[in-house]
Amino acid sequence: MDALLEKAVEEPESLCKGDLAALLRFSDGPALFAAALSVKERTIGRRVSLRGLVEFSNRCVRNCLYCGIRAGNRAVSRYRLDADEILACAARAKALGYGNLVLQSGETPALTDFVEDALRRLHGEFGEGFGITLSCGEQSDATYRRWFEAGAHRYLLRIETSSPELYARLHPSEQSWRARRDCLRSLGRLGYQLGTGTMSALPGQTEDDCAADILFFREVGADMIGMGPYIPHPDTPMGGGIDWTPSARAAALDQGLRMVAVTRLALPDVNIAASTALEALDPEGRAKGLLAGANVIMPNVSPPSRRADYRLYAGKPGVDEGADEARERLARSLAAIGETPLWDSRGDSLRFARRQEGNER
Ligand code: 5AD
Repeated sequence: MDALLEKAVEEPESLCKGDLAALLRFSDGPALFAAALSVKERTIGRRVSLRGLVEFSNRCVRNCLYCGIRAGNRAVSRYRLDADEILACAARAKALGYGNLVLQSGETPALTDFVEDALRRLHGEFGEGFGITLSCGEQSDATYRRWFEAGAHRYLLRIETSSPELYARLHPSEQSWRARRDCLRSLGRLGYQLGTGTMSALPGQTEDDCAADILFFREVGADMIGMGPYIPHPDTPMGGGIDWTPSARAAALDQGLRMVAVTRLALPDVNIAASTALEALDPEGRAKGLLAGANVIMPNVSPPSRRADYRLYAGKPGVDEGADEARERLARSLAAIGETPLWDSRGDSLRFARRQEGNER
């Protein structure tokens, strides 16, 4: 094995930024993915955590220049599911064997009471054993606290990029990288299992930026990572008029998979999602993500009639699908690549479990 790959597999904590950048551009992609898979196997096994994803609102006050549901996109019809509809999605997720839910939405400050109420109802109906992750953007500490107390125990807030300069090019000036970073710190302090992540394949992004992203995951104490390549959306300032050729798509997929693999090498015990952006680029994207070191998938359990309105990027999968992915079909597609689904599980990350043990000692 190549010396750098060997170092990555044997001494992950010793990887510096230069090593991570070299791994990201490692010439032998398949060898890199195989090394990350071996680390996953040794650390957490070939087991896949499942989360039912509910995209409960596409209302958003933000204007991220890349995102299809940005406030300025008038072509989107806006919706918010009511609490009964969310409970119905949860029941569907549970029946399908997903022991936990991710509630995701665009960002509005008006969500505090609504989400708190939905959490209490979910908790009442499904109990402590049913895990709940929130992903509702930047909120006040008081809101994060109320949601934690109402039963959410994981929170996903992608930093998008660890570079404040690149962040400034992707967002309007009123959106601040530091404010977002501070939200992550608050979430960690409040006791949430902390999820963050970035986009790769961004215009102007370098391998050094991506290596710094992975160091950021470490520094901020992430338990879970959700990452995906940037995919242009035609109704956005960044995505209009881009010639999205097959080779550009293939390059974006490759960069997305490399980020998964190198993140797994650097942070062996975190949960890493095989994101839908990978699937949008390749029908086998999810399997490829799992084989490059990811260990989480998030099947969509949102009402099919709403999915077209939650299009963050072009070609988002599942939009035209009527039925939920049946249990057998999912089990079979995972078995075909040597992975086993973890049915009916809360799916907490190994890193979080280890942190808990450390605190108790
Ligand atoms: N391409 C890829 N990912 C995107 N996201 C938003 N827009 C795009 C896009 N055009 C990601 C962001 C956000 C998450 C919900 O979706 O990282 O945090």
